[in-house]
Amino acid sequence: MRAQPLTPTSANAPSPTLLHDGFRLHPAALDPDAQQALVVAVLAAVEAAPFRRSETPGGRRMSVAMSNLGPLGWVTDAGGYRYQPTDPLSGRPWPPMPGIVADLWRRFTGRDEAADACLVNLYRDGARMGLHQDRDEQDLTAPVVSVSLGDTAVLRLGGPDRRDPTRTVRLASGDVCVLDGAARLAFHGIDRVLEGSSRLIPGGGRLNLTLRQAGPPPP
Ligand code: SIN
Ligand code: FE2
Repeated sequence: MRAQPLTPTSANAPSPTLLHDGFRLHPAALDPDAQQALVVAVLAAVEAAPFRRSETPGGRRMSVAMSNLGPLGWVTDAGGYRYQPTDPLSGRPWPPMPGIVADLWRRFTGRDEAADACLVNLYRDGARMGLHQDRDEQDLTAPVVSVSLGDTAVLRLGGPDRRDPTRTVRLASGDVCVLDGAARLAFHGIDRVLEGSSRLIPGGGRLNLTLRQAGPPPP
């Protein structure tokens, strides 16, 4: 796969790299202060909906711990994968999405309508994520913005068919990637996290934020 440089989308960000059609990687898009501010804001916000390791519909406990911010949150349990407005642990709405998180959606998608979901993934102790597609959203053409904070991850990225060839991409703290266009339904997963490669996250590990428009598309 050839990497093609693209025109910068924002004056203060380096040029994103197009790795597959529609997969845009913005290396070092967030400076250390911005990364720190995001970690502080996100960890404070998720206190009201603590990280949990959920079960897949098949009954396997995920190694990644998750929470959500914003009007809709992604959940998995015996009932399936879905978005819902309340935290199943408390029955209460998910905590609001901090403004500095919501701003990232506008900056990296250029969309005026706000993101309605931010899934927060915490990778500790060898956590990983198997190859999957993101397809629980109502509008599968709305992009996904993924923000990496803390330890570097090895992302495996394929195509829209599970059997498509895959490549690996390292995602360091402050990198932002966007799955859009043909890459919106690309299979992807996290092979591993390079433990101790960053000191950003209290207690170690990696935090990943995925921002989406998961609910009904705006009229
Ligand atoms: C995800 O696919 O939900 C997470 C990807 C990542 O952790 O970078
Ligand atoms: Fe995903």
